[in-house]
Amino acid sequence: MFSIVVLISGGGSNLRALLEAAADADYAARIVAVGADNDAPGLEHAEAFGVPTFTVVPTAFADRATWGDELLAQVQSWSPDLVVCAGFMRILPPRFVAALSPNLINTHPALLPAFPGAHAVRDALAAGISETGVTVHIIDEGVDTGPVLLQRAVPVLPEDTEHDLHERIKIVERGLLVEAVAGIAHQGITLGSRASTA
Ligand code: GRF
Repeated sequence: MFSIVVLISGGGSNLRALLEAAADADYAARIVAVGADNDAPGLEHAEAFGVPTFTVVPTAFADRATWGDELLAQVQSWSPDLVVCAGFMRILPPRFVAALSPNLINTHPALLPAFPGAHAVRDALAAGISETGVTVHIIDEGVDTGPVLLQRAVPVLPEDTEHDLHERIKIVERGLLVEAVAGIAHQGITLGSRASTA
């Protein structure tokens, strides 16, 4: 069975969508563990589905690289086929990326390469555009620069606040992430083979 570890930082609605999808025997992937960089509320979704969790908090380490090494060790202890960052709000250190990419993906609330970074929804609103969206992409050494796997557009409405727009994006995002993981598990979406998670 194609196994995944999901990394989160917040509420975990994308994680929840993956957990619900994976509860269906016809879905090709299983979530073997969920990790976080803080005591994230979304970890409760994993617990509700009986999925083990781990937390690796950066402030407990001397520097980012050491934190990343411990996060990597925790992830690799599950020998996942794929690692999914679903609202994981930290830049991953180079050794972590080198060890896992291209079997390391992220979901981002904008149509990359437009609006990379932590404030994609705010930046899209500020730009006054009429359409933004969601991107699922491979994580590489840059910030939101890796190869795009799937994208879907979401209209920006004239009265949208950042919160409204992000909530509408997340409805689309959850479906797109579930679709992307299924596609990768079925090998309809290929990631390449620069490294393996094992
Ligand atoms: C998502 O829109 C993700 O792309 C962004 O943060 C949001 C996380 O949502 N980086 P959730 O925690 O999955 O509900």
